Amino acid sequence: MAREFNMLKEIREQALIIKDIINKRVDFKTGCAVFDEFDHGKIRILKNVQRIIFLGCGTSYHAALYGNYVFEELTGLNCECELADEFTKREAVIESGTAVVLISQSGETGDALKAARLAREKEAFIIGLTNEINSSLSKYADICIYTEAGEEIAVAATKTFTSQVMLLGLLAVYFDSLNRKPPVLSQPAVFELKGLSEKIAAVLGSEEEIKIIADKYASEKGFVILGENYNYPIALEGALKFKETAYVHAEGLAAGEFLHGPLAIVDTDFPVIFLAPIDPAYEDNVKIMKEIKRAGGKILAVTTAGNHKLDDLADDVVRVPSALDIFVPILSIIPLQFLAYGIAVGKGLEIDKPRNLSKYVN
Ligand code: AGP
Repeated sequence: MAREFNMLKEIREQALIIKDIINKRVDFKTGCAVFDEFDHGKIRILKNVQRIIFLGCGTSYHAALYGNYVFEELTGLNCECELADEFTKREAVIESGTAVVLISQSGETGDALKAARLAREKEAFIIGLTNEINSSLSKYADICIYTEAGEEIAVAATKTFTSQVMLLGLLAVYFDSLNRKPPVLSQPAVFELKGLSEKIAAVLGSEEEIKIIADKYASEKGFVILGENYNYPIALEGALKFKETAYVHAEGLAAGEFLHGPLAIVDTDFPVIFLAPIDPAYEDNVKIMKEIKRAGGKILAVTTAGNHKLDDLADDVVRVPSALDIFVPILSIIPLQFLAYGIAVGKGLEIDKPRNLSKYVN
């Protein structure tokens, strides 16, 4: 029997962890997102927030980018996202009414803490999102929200990432509710959240199917991973999993951007992983897939369950259950985690402790 690493165990834990987050953070009777961390004083501050900056490094940066997108859509606030280290290396403008959402699984990453110090100096309201209760980030932040994903042993973040994404989605719902009466989640969102962990479990059920695909792609020298909108951060995160777990070069790109130069890299059999759920970007994504096929490339598509329209266009297809666009990333990242893991297993790598890396960089 093949050795199973902690990374695999942690990937499999995601359905349960997300279920726990939803049960704790969603009041299904009222449709409210619940964040008891914010008392009356803090709520007053939140109500005056005009601008939110999302910061993180590595995987946490990818969650930050998701946060930027979901907050913009649900709250209409002015949002932006930046790599924590870049934020500290330029004269970032922070005016009053700015909140900084700082994301760090460990809560100890040096660049993230530097960014927290800078944000504090500039009097921003800091919301920390971390998995570590006694971490330095929890001391710097005005309010800390814990992902409560349990200890993550593998260096490659998996379950802490999906927990960050879930909490950012719920926090956006909460922010939005502060200025509305009554503060409720939309009915489709409530309905969706009730069944989300079953949908995750369904994707986890495709582990064996994805392992076969991973074996097929195991000797590739490089990959491009494409996604649009909420799947763009997932393309970036998937590419990072491939690099740190399977030591294979992978580049995550916004799908539309692929036509502006990177398409030239495609020749016979070059593998492109395309996150193409049925969503508003789908038809544009199909056009890009056709360009890739014209250039001779190979496509592994991740699309929505029931969609068989890509069967002739893509070389391989993985399907994930349909979900509201804002929750699709929690599903679409899982095939990429499995693929990275499967390719690494095929290479006989020490998956939980990739060469040259440690769990956090301080
Ligand atoms: C994630 O798989 C990586 N190990 C790495 O990019 C990590 O996310 C980054 O170093 C930030 O760590 P943090 O979330 O603990 O701050």
